[in-house]
Amino acid sequence: MAKKLIQDDILAALRQVNYPGYQTDIVALGIVEEVAPAADGGWTITLRNPSEREEILRDIGGRIHHVLAHDLGAAKVEFRVRQIEPELGERTGRKRLDGVRHVIAVGSGKGGVGKSTVAANLAVALARLGYKVGMLDADIYGPSVPMMFGTGEERPRGAGGKNFYPVERHGVKLISIGFFVDDRSPVIWRGPMVMGAVRQFLQDTLWGTLDFLVVDLPPGTGDAQLTLAQEVALDGAVIVTTPQDVAVADALRAVRMFRQVHCPLIGVVENMSGYVCPDCGERDEIFGAGGADQLAAGEGMEVIARAPIVEELRAAGDAGAPLTIARPEHPASAVFMELARRVAAAMPAD
Ligand SMILES: Nc1ncnc2c1ncn2[C@@H]1O[C@H](COP(=O)(O)OP(=O)(O)OP(=O)(O)O)[C@@H](O)[C@H]1O
Ligand SMILES: [Mg+2]
Repeated sequence: MAKKLIQDDILAALRQVNYPGYQTDIVALGIVEEVAPAADGGWTITLRNPSEREEILRDIGGRIHHVLAHDLGAAKVEFRVRQIEPELGERTGRKRLDGVRHVIAVGSGKGGVGKSTVAANLAVALARLGYKVGMLDADIYGPSVPMMFGTGEERPRGAGGKNFYPVERHGVKLISIGFFVDDRSPVIWRGPMVMGAVRQFLQDTLWGTLDFLVVDLPPGTGDAQLTLAQEVALDGAVIVTTPQDVAVADALRAVRMFRQVHCPLIGVVENMSGYVCPDCGERDEIFGAGGADQLAAGEGMEVIARAPIVEELRAAGDAGAPLTIARPEHPASAVFMELARRVAAAMPAD
């Protein structure tokens, strides 16, 4: 006679089910909300925000069915999917992270404006000022931390249970979704999935004590960003924009989003703020000028840094060490050191 199955057997089996396209299982990702025995001897499995996409739901369903019915011989498996909408504007319930003094988000409405570059240079600049710093790369569409910090094959070390230690590089403790997903997999994660993964990062990473945790948000102002901003009690946001109008319009949306979740706005960073010719030293405003000032003035904020377009910033990021640590003498590094001072000064004394 078949062994009577208990809840632990079902959970153990579900741990064998990886999220489609990834090497992380659905239990670890936090999408299995409940495993309950049904009156008829079957099992009801409730998944929380597994995906908005039909084909992924079907794929997950198929995988679960395979391990439960086929491998384990469980009878009558029923799935339920619960989609939870983030509540807007709620500040209660957001966790403060143990040992982390200040959580700073770097955001913008538009992709490709240099958010990750600013976040990485801000993180190393804060570390150079003597603070204990971590960086959370929450950009599932294109995680940048592994490349910008040159972490290569290194992965977070397990610390027993489901906890793990961040990877440490250039004086910054790092966690990136890029450490957990396979480069070759298609990017199929959507907002709700991000929630699960980010929640896991936040809860399970042993950061130790940190003065600052810099969060590199994915581009946009959709659910994923809102959720993130609600999951963590953010102490401040830095808005990155390029000078042209279209980027500024998007940045304004980001400003509104942070306002919606009651996150204080530290200031605006204008990135790619003119091109300084390496030969003649002349400055050319190739992306226009004044957009960041306009945004800041309209929103009662300040422009707290202007980083010019310099090839070395890109090259340093691609080579695995942010410019501010790789070339501290470079004029652009001085811009980020000053940004770090401004950010630190904006924090309430505690
Ligand atoms: N000031 C700068 N000067 C020269 N290159 C820059 C500068 N800022 C960013 N870059 C380069 O521009 C590209 C996009 O920057 P980055 O990845 O930081 O943007 P992002 O806003 O994080 O993009 P995404 O929306 O894809 O996350 C990168 O190749 C980066 O090295
Ligand atoms: Mg980025």
